[in-house]
Amino acid sequence: MRTAAEKDVDVSVGALIVSDARVSSHLSVREVAEQFFADADLEAMAVVDAGRPVGLITRTKLLFKLFRRFGFELFGKHQIRNIADATPLIVGEGERLDVVIDRALERDPQDIYDEIIVTGDGGGYRGLLSVKHLVIQQGNTLAQTMLQREIASERARELEQAQAMRSQFMAHVTHELRSPVNVIIGLSELTRIALEKGAPDQARDRLASIISNATDLRTIVTNVLDLSKLEANKMTVARRSFDLAETVRDVAEATRVLVRAKTVSVNVAAPSEPVVIESDPVKIRQILLNLASNAAKFTEAGSIHFAVITTRSSASISVSDSGIGIRKEHLDKLFLAFSQIEDAKTKRHEGTGLGLLIARSMARLLGGDLDVASTIGKGSTFTITLPRAAEQEGANEKSEEGHDHRR
Ligand SMILES: Nc1ncnc2c1ncn2[C@@H]1O[C@H](COP(=O)(O)OP(=O)(O)OP(=O)(O)O)[C@@H](O)[C@H]1O
Ligand SMILES: [Mg+2]
Repeated sequence: MRTAAEKDVDVSVGALIVSDARVSSHLSVREVAEQFFADADLEAMAVVDAGRPVGLITRTKLLFKLFRRFGFELFGKHQIRNIADATPLIVGEGERLDVVIDRALERDPQDIYDEIIVTGDGGGYRGLLSVKHLVIQQGNTLAQTMLQREIASERARELEQAQAMRSQFMAHVTHELRSPVNVIIGLSELTRIALEKGAPDQARDRLASIISNATDLRTIVTNVLDLSKLEANKMTVARRSFDLAETVRDVAEATRVLVRAKTVSVNVAAPSEPVVIESDPVKIRQILLNLASNAAKFTEAGSIHFAVITTRSSASISVSDSGIGIRKEHLDKLFLAFSQIEDAKTKRHEGTGLGLLIARSMARLLGGDLDVASTIGKGSTFTITLPRAAEQEGANEKSEEGHDHRR
């Protein structure tokens, strides 16, 4: 199939005539020169005899001849046909543009940019084509075609990539869902057996495992749902004023529960007066819980530190831990879907690898961002920055207070 731009190249040259300037072959060189002098835009004229072209005279070539020593004396009285180009390129008006340009460009270098004479069906003079003009026009057309092709193949590539990402995503999700489901089924069977043989303590332990696995399952499902909402731009944002320091202290409290079995201290540095911001408290809590659960997961000993810092227009919350840290080359990958870092140390940790992607997407949805700094072996700091007042514009700012029942 041809593109629209390629069809443009098909046009016949009759439509591209720029002038029908002509001069009778019997005129003297001097008279022709006067015509050129009188009209500064006149670049060339066909030399015509009884309506038919017999040559071409261009301004450049005429002036070149005349301004040589004794040029006027030598040629002035000659008929123009004697010094005109007697073999100009003559083409029929029905010829195709690209064919004509090829022919023009095959000529001797000094003639390449001379005008081309166009004749009608019976060979009568119709007009002149400007080669410069044609070449520029075709160049533009070709550039456009190439650009369109480039854009088309770029789109195809993007589409293919998106498709591949989607399949990969689905494969991961299915896998992630299957493991806890299998565990739950297995444990339920074991619970039944324990009850049948009258071992209630065993049954209780298994039920606890079932609950824990079901909770993991819920987290995965919630994450996947959140992510698809974020991707489809369907996640709505609530907007109300609340005390950010209070939220951070709450999350710190929850973090203490997460690390109660380890020697990890959890502390908060926040202004004592309320840090009032206008944003979505449920989402901010969710982002912070994500960061806190990572900090708790990847820190065996030491501390997890929350800090709230404000300026007039923004607030930032950082979550620092003294945990295993992240290699520099891995920092960029953290925020990709399912990006668990393949490290012997972290392999044993649970998770889908969606937490940070969701956290960053949500922070951005709130008009802020999420960044990371880390030193391997020393610890990591994740920092969310948020505007203190919600921005006015934005597609997702329908208020849905009280509608957000996740977790
Ligand atoms: N505080 C941290 N210290 C060290 N590594 C971290 C920390 N936070 C995240 N990472 C690394 O980044 C990876 C991605 O984190 P993310 O929160 O996206 O996924 P996850 O915690 O593995 O799973 P999920 O949050 O979906 O349950 C982690 O698996 C871990 O390798
Ligand atoms: Mg996580």
